[in-house]
Amino acid sequence: MSETIQHNPSSTNEQARREQELTQTVVESFGQTPDPRLKELMQSLTRHLHAFVREVRLTEDEWSTAIDFLTEVGHITDDRRQEFILLSDVLGVSMQTVTVNNEADADATESTVFGPFFVENSPSIDLGGDIAGGASGQPCWVEGTVTSTDGNPIAGALIEVWEADEDGFYDVQYDGTRIAGRANLTADDNGRYCFWGLTPTPYPIPHDGPVGRLLDATSRSPYRASHLHFKVTAPGHRTLVTHIFVRGDELLDSDSVFGVRRSLIKDFAEQSSETPTPDGRDIGESTWAQARFDIILAPTKSRPDTHRKSH
Ligand code: BEZ
Ligand code: FE
Repeated sequence: MSETIQHNPSSTNEQARREQELTQTVVESFGQTPDPRLKELMQSLTRHLHAFVREVRLTEDEWSTAIDFLTEVGHITDDRRQEFILLSDVLGVSMQTVTVNNEADADATESTVFGPFFVENSPSIDLGGDIAGGASGQPCWVEGTVTSTDGNPIAGALIEVWEADEDGFYDVQYDGTRIAGRANLTADDNGRYCFWGLTPTPYPIPHDGPVGRLLDATSRSPYRASHLHFKVTAPGHRTLVTHIFVRGDELLDSDSVFGVRRSLIKDFAEQSSETPTPDGRDIGESTWAQARFDIILAPTKSRPDTHRKSH
């Protein structure tokens, strides 16, 4: 007679009761937290973490492997390399946090991840100036307007732009102090802006550490879809951190940090070297590209956002 394992219903119930009781005890341990927001965060985190452990029936070996992984993430992190942010990025947590904190507002331009390559106080250029500063790549004329959701131009909006060169590296990834592929400019009285940049090309996020191993083990690519970063600031408006992406890029559906939004995909129309450039600039034998990005800023919210309600 074959032996069948009988689950005793009363043991199953007892097991579930113990698991629930433990979760409840830990939730209650945070019950006296003076800061209400910290209390909410810790109690909710406890519930979600415990639910995960129970749902996947986490083994002790798996938990130990996870601890080793996080330890390695900590060890590789220093002043220049932030593996925890990278982990948050590839888990989509960075992008979800951006999404929660930049609520849809009429037709305001969507936000996306900041990334690690922004530099404060990049060089100022005049409208029509060139951000390349020696970075290699196909010249690309970028133009557009900055307006509010009511349609009015935002004169004097500060536009900071940055991008990788055609080899997929930002200036800060090279030895030395060369500033290239980044600048800031100011929209004119009609909210218009334009500059010469480089046609964006794809590049991988740093993948020589534990996060790279995680991507490898899960058959995911470290590549980001080609993009050009923007940060746009104007008084009375929500600061916009975003990128534009290249229509037709085959990585649009597999961006390693989930930063792509349909509304941010733009045409980068390639032009022959014979086509006159918008500003009459002579770029010799080179082909060039042209993109338009009209930016709409949401108004600053008047309500304080320190105690956001979760839904
Ligand atoms: C980037 O856009 O440059 C980036 C974003 C997230 C992680 C790594 C790089
Ligand atoms: Fe980037």
